[in-house]
Amino acid sequence: MPQLVVVTRDGSERTVEGEAGLSVMEVIRDAGFDELLALCGGCCSCATCHVHVDPAFADKLPAMSEDENDLLDSSDHRDETSRLSCQLTFGADLDGLRITIAAED
Ligand code: FES
Repeated sequence: MPQLVVVTRDGSERTVEGEAGLSVMEVIRDAGFDELLALCGGCCSCATCHVHVDPAFADKLPAMSEDENDLLDSSDHRDETSRLSCQLTFGADLDGLRITIAAED
């Protein structure tokens, strides 16, 4: 299975396996990281699944929707690497992707 490298807010890093077709949010949540709240369950309406994505993978990510963009604007911690992890489908093309869970708003 493709691997995802998850960096938590305290800077610790763990590599987990993720099923292709799940969202990156689901892979993180299913691996037991409880600091990614993902309160809306992936409906793109809460922004609590905010992550920073390794820029090396930027061109492999799907384009950002207007809704995602607007939601990210509500975060004080947005930067050019910000994405909502529920909007990213995990799979072989993202094998080795490194994400950092964004600071809590
Ligand atoms: S889980 Fe709510 S926007 Fe991603």
